[in-house]
Amino acid sequence: MTLREILQGRFLIGAALNNGQIAGQDPVALEIVKRHFNTITPEDVLKWDALHPAPDRFEFAAADRFAALGEENGLFLVGHTLVWHHQTPSWVFEGARGKPLDGELLLARMREYIRTVVGRYRGRVQGWDVVNEAFEDDGTWRQSPWYTALGEEYVAKAFEFAHEADPDAELYYNDYNLWKMPKCQAAIRLVNSLRGRGIRVDGIGEQAHWVLDGPRVEEIEPALAELEKTGVRVMFTELDIDPLPRPEALIGADISKRLEVAPELDPYRDGLPESVGQRLAERYAEVFRMFVKHRAVSRVTFWCVTDADTWLNNWPVRGRTNHPLLWDRQGRPKPAFHAVVEALKRALTAGA
Ligand code: G3I
Repeated sequence: MTLREILQGRFLIGAALNNGQIAGQDPVALEIVKRHFNTITPEDVLKWDALHPAPDRFEFAAADRFAALGEENGLFLVGHTLVWHHQTPSWVFEGARGKPLDGELLLARMREYIRTVVGRYRGRVQGWDVVNEAFEDDGTWRQSPWYTALGEEYVAKAFEFAHEADPDAELYYNDYNLWKMPKCQAAIRLVNSLRGRGIRVDGIGEQAHWVLDGPRVEEIEPALAELEKTGVRVMFTELDIDPLPRPEALIGADISKRLEVAPELDPYRDGLPESVGQRLAERYAEVFRMFVKHRAVSRVTFWCVTDADTWLNNWPVRGRTNHPLLWDRQGRPKPAFHAVVEALKRALTAGA
């Protein structure tokens, strides 16, 4: 049975696709997507640097392929991501003719970008990560160029512009480490305040870049319960569970930080030992049991498809052999896949 058949619409299940997969160059991964998933997110092709690399240039070819791939296969398309501090070209944050950047100009650029991109995929991309990673782990505002130039209001503006461009699209706030309570509370305050002003927000995306030992379900679930109380849907938007060694301070996805290459940080070059594969399987089963318990959970998206294409082969250490997903480097299902299938079957037939 496939993941989407087992889930029977309980929540959407999907994966992020890289540029090669979107271009049709990875039949193994595409077969998995078509069999198991009903939603896709592009890893990179709907980011600002890919779509609008220069002030006078938009590049839509790869994003158009993503939209076509989704439509051909009847998949729910998620657009990732409109306003972020990474993968945004430096010209966006530069003032006109060498002058310092002023807020009005930045806002005009944001509006033009969102109108053009969301407008182009109107009615096709059904949900957008409108703002990504606005908070630090302690719940304070991230001092991004957006925040520095526009203050908190940049988030409201981004949601308003997206809604103007496609009134039917679902709009999400997305961040990592939302299991950390101060960050979770900051996201909740933001979403409640936007909705209190009548601004459309449909969901909160928790990225879910986790490791084998943490965060524990006992830490994730209380935050999930808090997110649920907002009344918007909760999505686990970038799920992967990293079995390689990583300092606790690097849990999450703060890609501005990196570690040097060192052999002890890359212990499973020849394959994941059975015992570790088993721990990974139990951990995946546990988190999926948690997902089905919560009615607010409306989507779970893996970040990448197989261990061959995971971004974790290159972060926080470049060039490692990582094993964080349900399919191995050849696209074969791992014990973690079978554990998820069993956990879902049992939880769903028990009427959870
Ligand atoms: O586009 C260039 C290409 O021209 C060049 O030849 C190639 C050589 O390295 O690099 C290409 O850019 C890469 C880009 O992905 C597109 O493939 C960057 O080096 C690489 O750093 C970038 O990584 C992406 C990362 O975000 C950086 O922002 C990952 O693919 C992507 O999986 C990752 O996704 C993020 C989410 O958007 C937000 N949450 C965290 C998650 C993981 O970091």
